[in-house]
Amino acid sequence: MHNIEEAAEFLRQKGFGDADVGVVMGTGLGGFARHFKVEKQVVYGKIPHFPVATMEYHAGKLLIGTCHGKKVIAMQGRFHHYEGYSMKEVTFPIRVMKMLGIKHLLLSNAAGGINLDFKKGDLVMLEDHINLQTENPLRGPNVEFLGPRFPDMSEPYSKELGARLMKIAKEQGTTLLQGVYVAVNGPNFETRAEYRYLNHLGADMVGMSTVPEVIVACHMGIPVVAVSVITDECDPDNLHPVDMEDLVKTAEKADEKLSKAFAELIGTL
Ligand code: HPA
Repeated sequence: MHNIEEAAEFLRQKGFGDADVGVVMGTGLGGFARHFKVEKQVVYGKIPHFPVATMEYHAGKLLIGTCHGKKVIAMQGRFHHYEGYSMKEVTFPIRVMKMLGIKHLLLSNAAGGINLDFKKGDLVMLEDHINLQTENPLRGPNVEFLGPRFPDMSEPYSKELGARLMKIAKEQGTTLLQGVYVAVNGPNFETRAEYRYLNHLGADMVGMSTVPEVIVACHMGIPVVAVSVITDECDPDNLHPVDMEDLVKTAEKADEKLSKAFAELIGTL
């Protein structure tokens, strides 16, 4: 049996089968767990073939429960390439969630604001991305039952889901901006010259996650919606050292609004 199938089978036995929606909660964004009725949880270390979370700001648990009548699997904490995982490991949980039945994927992350109109604490929905990460999760022999060799990336973020989320945010009185996310390897933050460069490239925000997950979701034909919380302003002419504690606090503060919008969106799926 394929490792993905083995992990999925283990989780099915634990009641994680027949899921409708997958959610990945980024740095400081674990509050979505309060917006649904968590029925079961498993720490990543217990799941066969799952990478083990090393990031101190992530809980490292897979949750299942119901949200507005939908069965939701939520990852509290994700895997990053900079932690030393291969991109296949980083995206393994997304593959497993697909085997468990998810038909939609909702992602959140903390990101630096390249577009200087964006301020700390702003929520920005990804309308597109630029991938500057050096390893691709699809590199190597294609697993035909998962998806095609050359997946289309003309609409990596579902326009339909995005429009729904924008409408919900508006109804909830939450400002939801839109922008292009650029993914970098990390783990260092960028130099002033790099922020200028990323701006020239056409990026509005920068982060070290999300894009590999989106690539495998596209490969498997799962519609995605993703939102960044701007945790620091990347102004090359007025750059301050990033304070990691402050970054996490900023994400935590914005979390409630984002989680509320995600929960409502799930109700419409
Ligand atoms: N750069 C890269 N990743 C980030 C940043 C940043 O400024 N802020 C949060 N994640």
